[in-house]
Amino acid sequence: MKVIKSIPALKSAVRRWKSKNRTIGFVPTMGYLHEGHLSLVRASKKKADVTVVSIFVNPTQFGPKEDFRTYPRDFERDAGLLEKEGIAVLFYPDAEEMYPGGYKTYVEIYDLQDKLCGRSRPGHFRGVSTVVLKLFNIVRPDYAFFGQKDAQQAIILRRMARDLDLDICVEIMPIVREADGLAMSSRNTYLGPDERKAGLSLSRSLRQAKTRIDAGERRPDVILSAMKEMIAAEPLAMIDYIEAVDMDTLEPVKEISEGTLIALAVFIGKTRLIDNMIV
Ligand code: PAF
Repeated sequence: MKVIKSIPALKSAVRRWKSKNRTIGFVPTMGYLHEGHLSLVRASKKKADVTVVSIFVNPTQFGPKEDFRTYPRDFERDAGLLEKEGIAVLFYPDAEEMYPGGYKTYVEIYDLQDKLCGRSRPGHFRGVSTVVLKLFNIVRPDYAFFGQKDAQQAIILRRMARDLDLDICVEIMPIVREADGLAMSSRNTYLGPDERKAGLSLSRSLRQAKTRIDAGERRPDVILSAMKEMIAAEPLAMIDYIEAVDMDTLEPVKEISEGTLIALAVFIGKTRLIDNMIV
C-alpha cells in the first residue's frame, strides 16, 4: 500500500489508472477506522479495480466548540488495517495541502444541509460537501462509498453528485453495529461504561419502532413519541432530534411508508450519537 500525502502525486497515480481504463473506488474517512469503515473498503474492492482510502480529519466540518482537536487519531493502526485489506493507495494529506493559505471556495447544498443534524451543527455539511468535492476532484472515482449511519451526509453527497453532474456513483452501505446494537462510530471511544449502556437506547428505540411499524402503525407522531419516551427514560441521555423524514427531501413525512428515514441524534453526556433506519 502506498501512502500519498500530496495532491499532485495522487493525481498522477489517478491519471495512470485512468489511462489503463481501471475503475476507481473511493472511501473517504477521518480515520480511527472500525468495522463500519472496513465494510466500505470491502464493498469498494468488490466493485472497482483500484481502491483509494483517504484519512483526513477535516477542520471545516467541525464547529468552534466541537471536538476537532480531540477527535481520535491513530494513523499507524489505521494504516495497518488498510494494508491488511489490500488497499492500493492511502491518501493522507495535511490541512495545508487541502486548504492552502487564501482558500476561499465552499459548497452548500440547500436546504438539505440545514435540516436534522444541520440544525445543531451549523456549517457542518458545508465543510463535509466542500472537502468531499475536493477529494472527488483529486481522486476522480467511479464509485464512492458512504455509510448509512451518517444518512444525512450520504443523502447530501448523493444530491451534490447529481446536481453537479459528477460521474460518480454514490453507494450507501448498511450500518455496522456492535454485538449489542450500538452503531459503530469513531466517537464511541468517548463513552464511559455507563454512557455506553445509555447509548444502547438509540438502537433499542429503533428496534421498538420497527416492531410497531411491522405491526401496521404508520403515524409518525405515535412512533416518534414512543421512541422519545424510551430514550428520555435514560438519565444520561438528552435528545437532540428524532424525526421521520423523506429520504430525498429530508422533510418530515405525514405517514410512514417504505423508504421513510427515521433518524435520531442524542447526547449521551457530552458525546452526540446518531443512528437511523430506513423503513
Ligand atoms: O464521514 C466522515 O468520516 C466524514 O464526514 C467525511 C465524509 C470523510 C468527510 O470529511
